[in-house]
Amino acid sequence: MKETIRQLAEEKNAIILAHNYQPPEIQQAAHMCGDSLELSIRAAETTADVIVFCGVHFMAESAAILSPEKKVLLPVADAGCPMADMVTPEALVKRKKELGNIPVITYVNSTAAVKAVSDVCCTSANVTRVVESVKEDEVLMTPDRNLARYAALFTDKTVHLWEGFCPYHDTLTAEDVLSARKEHPNAVFMAHPECPPDVIQMADAVKSTSGMLRYAGEVDSDEFIVGTETGLIYPLSKAYPEKRFFPASEKMFCTDMKKISLENLRDTLENLSGEVRVPEEVRKDAYKAVKRMVDLT
Ligand code: 13P
Ligand code: SF4
Repeated sequence: MKETIRQLAEEKNAIILAHNYQPPEIQQAAHMCGDSLELSIRAAETTADVIVFCGVHFMAESAAILSPEKKVLLPVADAGCPMADMVTPEALVKRKKELGNIPVITYVNSTAAVKAVSDVCCTSANVTRVVESVKEDEVLMTPDRNLARYAALFTDKTVHLWEGFCPYHDTLTAEDVLSARKEHPNAVFMAHPECPPDVIQMADAVKSTSGMLRYAGEVDSDEFIVGTETGLIYPLSKAYPEKRFFPASEKMFCTDMKKISLENLRDTLENLSGEVRVPEEVRKDAYKAVKRMVDLT
């Protein structure tokens, strides 16, 4: 199946991207794996005519924002992100006005329409730098309340938060971490900033998914408790076969990230189906917010 998929990709001049949380067989079939933003940036640099994004809807939109001349396909139309859907452009514009038009910093885990009404985007890896880059003393961060609370730890600015959250990261509790630590007393605990504040406080390191992939290689430890979606265990174990990785909780399983199968990846390539389009007027404004962030990093 992997051979068929790669052959179809070659015929259609397509590049297959897979987010770090995708099932192992999808990561194996992909040309590139990584976090959502780095994948979109790297795909924009290629000469492919088609991008197949194995991930969720906002990720395919990000690729379309950065590569308007390419066809961007999402193998399963309803692979979405509940957190991205917790804010609408209308509600965000209203809240920004209520707060006196302060700058809006939007996590890349958001729809293109929300990015388009934002001043600048951020990722879990660059959030502190983005907050400091804004000259105003007050900012509104959306959609993730936990990422906003994490960013607030590193700034004197007033950070207003939006009450959005990732249903999988937000579910991790201090008790889960304590029990994982008890089972693996020598393990280093890495947490994603989408986790709740009490969990963040217990972490040895707070990292994005790509940050965790680097950090596990840098730290002199053979065991890690992984405080993010359990799909990351696969690329971690592949990168460091001599080390051991344990999920902080089996509850951290994003069902949307697991909707894509080899069969629907093959069908998508065969039929060039599942195109994700961002209207040009939305794309132009969303691009500005993404570009402002990329220029900072
Ligand atoms: P990163 O890979 O950017 O850390 O994102 C985590 C995530 O939840 C993606 O949906
Ligand atoms: Fe969205 Fe959370 Fe799934 Fe990432 S893990 S796609 S933030 S629901």
